[in-house]
Amino acid sequence: MTTHDTRPGSSGGADTPGPLHSGPDEDYTPEQLASMSREDLDRLGARYDGVEILHVDPAPEPGSRLERRAVRQVGLAFTLAGVFAFLFLVVYAGSGWFLPDWNWAQAGTTWSALFTPLLGLFMGLSLTMVGVGLVLYTKKLLPHETAVQDKHDGSHFDRVTTGATLVGGYHNSGLPRRKLITRSLGFMGAGVGIMLLAPLGGLIKNPNTGNPLGRTSWAEGVRLVRDDGSPIRPGDQEPGSLEKVFPAVPGGNLQSDAGTMLIRLRPEQVEMDRPREGQADFAYGDYVAYSLICTHAGCPVALYEQETSRLLCPCHQSQFDVTQGAKPVFGPATRSLPQLPITVDDEGFFVARSDYIEAVGPTYWNRERI
Ligand code: FES
Repeated sequence: MTTHDTRPGSSGGADTPGPLHSGPDEDYTPEQLASMSREDLDRLGARYDGVEILHVDPAPEPGSRLERRAVRQVGLAFTLAGVFAFLFLVVYAGSGWFLPDWNWAQAGTTWSALFTPLLGLFMGLSLTMVGVGLVLYTKKLLPHETAVQDKHDGSHFDRVTTGATLVGGYHNSGLPRRKLITRSLGFMGAGVGIMLLAPLGGLIKNPNTGNPLGRTSWAEGVRLVRDDGSPIRPGDQEPGSLEKVFPAVPGGNLQSDAGTMLIRLRPEQVEMDRPREGQADFAYGDYVAYSLICTHAGCPVALYEQETSRLLCPCHQSQFDVTQGAKPVFGPATRSLPQLPITVDDEGFFVARSDYIEAVGPTYWNRERI
């Protein structure tokens, strides 16, 4: 193939090789490079990079109808991306006032059910419109080149010419004079940037603080009742026995996280009892109450072996010692069963003194109550 050497210093004839050199930094001093125009540097860099341009489709004429229409389409796509990003933020941050009857605890409410789908919808639409805008811009407003380029190591020469190529690309993109697109890009960038960063707030501050999903229905003064709703007094159970109890609230016996085991210790067990630190007064006389939900994977702890004082979880055989604050003594569970602080009310029935003071069920990232 016939080529013309256009390097400064060459004769420029057909099939004329450039001057012999051991690298472009030796061919061109920094002063020479500094005196050349951006276009010359761009061309020069391309030749030294071994770039062969096979075909060029020019960009639409500046100011032409074709260009104006493409600019409007791209601007609209970027603006919509920003609008959807801000809608995401409204739902994410403003749900407390934006969604009426907002309530985490009422899983069936329409607005609660829509929260996550709306977040996904708006983020998806926003990112889609970013992609649409970029594709439209690339297809409709940039010159299209088909080129082949060799790969090689970098040098000062490469840095200068690559910089010129990038600056040239920016100028060729037409962005400096297409204000509608730069403005919509700025709007989109702000919206999408905040949309992507906002959920990171959950890594700094526990987003579930105050979330009722992290609490149970147990609260001060809530009675302990059996599955049939009957309350329990001290003395109703035999020493060594266990009874499943639930909070005396509507639907309390259906709340899987509230299920509790009320255990009456035998006298010898009371003597051996070593409650967890700070929980010595959680028991009432010889009665202790522990969460029914295994701290390993959330199965109900269904078996009580009173001779060994152990509660057994049938799922993976974890065992908890009720005389050691329901500490795990065998199996995969690593956390003690949470203990419910109990007392009796004016009528002599068992009541809770508060909710559990730590998370019930399988391990959270954090054991603190949320
Ligand atoms: S769920 Fe209880 S041991 Fe695995």
